[in-house]
Amino acid sequence: MSVKLVKKGDSYFPSAEFKKKAWLKDASVYKESPLKFWEKQAKKLFWFKKWRKVFSHQPPYFKWFVNGKTNITSSIFEENALGFSRIKNKVALIWEPESLEEKPRIITYYELFKKVNRFANALKKMGVKKGDKVGIYLPMIPEAMIAMLACARIGAIHAVVFSAFSPTALKLRLQDTQTKVLITADGYFRKGKVINLKQNADKGIKGTNVKKIVVVERAKNQISMKKNRDYFWHDLTEKESDFCQPAIMDAEDLLFILYTSGSTGRPKGTVQACGGYAVQAYATAKYIFDLKEDDIFWSTADVGWVTGHTYSCYGPLLNGTTFIIFEGLPSWPQPDRWAQTIEKYGATIFYTAPTAIRMFIKTLGSLSRYKFDSLRIISSVGEPIDDSSWNWFFKEVGKGKCSLVDTWWQTETGGIIMTSLPGIGPFKPCFTGLPFPGVKVDILNDKGKSLPPDKEGNLVILPPFNPGLLRGVYKNPKKYAQTYWSQFGPKVYFTSDTAYKDKKGLIRIVGRSDDVIKVAGHRLTTGELEDAINQLKNITESAVIGIPDKIKGEAPIAFIISHAKKSLTALQAEVSAQVRKEIGPIASLKNVYLVADLPKTRSGKIMRRILRKLFSGEDLGDLSTLANAESVEAIRKIIKTQK
Ligand code: PRX
Repeated sequence: MSVKLVKKGDSYFPSAEFKKKAWLKDASVYKESPLKFWEKQAKKLFWFKKWRKVFSHQPPYFKWFVNGKTNITSSIFEENALGFSRIKNKVALIWEPESLEEKPRIITYYELFKKVNRFANALKKMGVKKGDKVGIYLPMIPEAMIAMLACARIGAIHAVVFSAFSPTALKLRLQDTQTKVLITADGYFRKGKVINLKQNADKGIKGTNVKKIVVVERAKNQISMKKNRDYFWHDLTEKESDFCQPAIMDAEDLLFILYTSGSTGRPKGTVQACGGYAVQAYATAKYIFDLKEDDIFWSTADVGWVTGHTYSCYGPLLNGTTFIIFEGLPSWPQPDRWAQTIEKYGATIFYTAPTAIRMFIKTLGSLSRYKFDSLRIISSVGEPIDDSSWNWFFKEVGKGKCSLVDTWWQTETGGIIMTSLPGIGPFKPCFTGLPFPGVKVDILNDKGKSLPPDKEGNLVILPPFNPGLLRGVYKNPKKYAQTYWSQFGPKVYFTSDTAYKDKKGLIRIVGRSDDVIKVAGHRLTTGELEDAINQLKNITESAVIGIPDKIKGEAPIAFIISHAKKSLTALQAEVSAQVRKEIGPIASLKNVYLVADLPKTRSGKIMRRILRKLFSGEDLGDLSTLANAESVEAIRKIIKTQK
């Protein structure tokens, strides 16, 4: 892109040159009826049988593409509207390993198709049937995508667990899904060292139903393989046929389960349906990243999170796009590894998170040595992006020539539902933009009344929602109804985000209104960490809050009460180690404070809000509702003195 964006007032707009070629360039698309818009998108995918009705609603449940029969892998690989024969020999996936000495893997659409089919056949031979759950605990290697697609091919439901999650976190998820087959790897590389993933998997399956483990040989590290339980991927697939009949899936059959943190300690399994999710992934990837024949798309998200599902796998594949997946950290072995990678492959679209952007700013500052000539769209997701990070990203990476699309969505929505469109704009720092065509949102006060511009309130999604919105919480309908459909009635989806809009309707996200914290873009809940800490016998009680962190956005800290005769340092080490062990390094505590008491209401509820205010310097407000107001000043002193 050689032309700078146009600035008008506080926003930028795409250049005439960009607009000319963009898929969506006319704001009239926002006026289309949601059902018509989504139906038009659905028609571009593969269906064994067309739907009878686009949308049906029995609050709090709803269906999209009722009675339609499909398979997401057929929309990628079979002859269809997208023209598979045209893209057969095109590169689907470029895998960049962590080590600069190791060779990348380049896989074409046809090769990917064969690999998916071979593994699908292998899964079948292992006894995996339509509707069975399959656990995937893999790092960022092509086999992660192949495994997901192979499950989808045969109608098995994949449940991916982030590879840096601890064995305990893995176990919790495997137990909930009753998974019998787990796919993992021997190991992977992190900062030059091998992480023994198989060992974690072995620990994680204890006490679960897992009967078989498939192991991808990635790092060739020493692992133990148990006879008649553990099998190498390459042995299983070697002799399999290159074709496996796609399972005929109802649009509402489950495609995957993905766990995410909510307002309580136990993560919830959000469930996605085959038809709606595919349509959401396809249309949002196409229009928000303006995907064209010659694009090279790079989303830095790990496959363990929803962004990795929708935009490091399904979205680009459904559009026949070439995309990059990267095993390592964007800052290793040099802080500009990510910038080198963009230039190495001539990436045209770069999708990352504010936490990464803040790290790039800190470690690199000016990027004048990089031209980034290939880039045309840059994008952010996962947490609010502040003004200076937005401007740095726009100027240093986008060089003032790339549309910057800040995309808002959640694990629950399956795909992006708010953003500015690259060929329409406006791109306004800190504002995520307008609802995607076909989506209706609102901002309500606590009584459910729609708020005017500039007034902060609860962000909600209104019917007909979006095809990728979760269909339930796995095995927990009560939680589904309570979490999302109880605040404003069963016809209004509550996002748990606070937001406001400007006079033009552009939405700015303020943050979560529940106990979810975003640590380096990863979603955690304070309750999960407290549950882990409270398991320690030396700990009587604990409270965890997120405090602002310059790079990670938020970082968790813990307050503990302990009557054990142990030093402060010993207790801090024990608590920190426990969180890492139970959840994983992403949840690492920034600090642990030993206190005598925690602020509580008369009914015994810990007031985390007050603890947060002790850090933000905000007025503490009325403390008369507390049963132990004196605890607050004591904690304030401890925060000041205890390191
Ligand atoms: O608070 C919002 C924030 O991330 C939450 C969803 O987290 P998760 O399910 O992990 O999904 C993240 C990736 C889709 C939201 O409730 N969030 C996500 N994107 C943005 C955001 N906050 C502000 N701006 C965004 N672009």
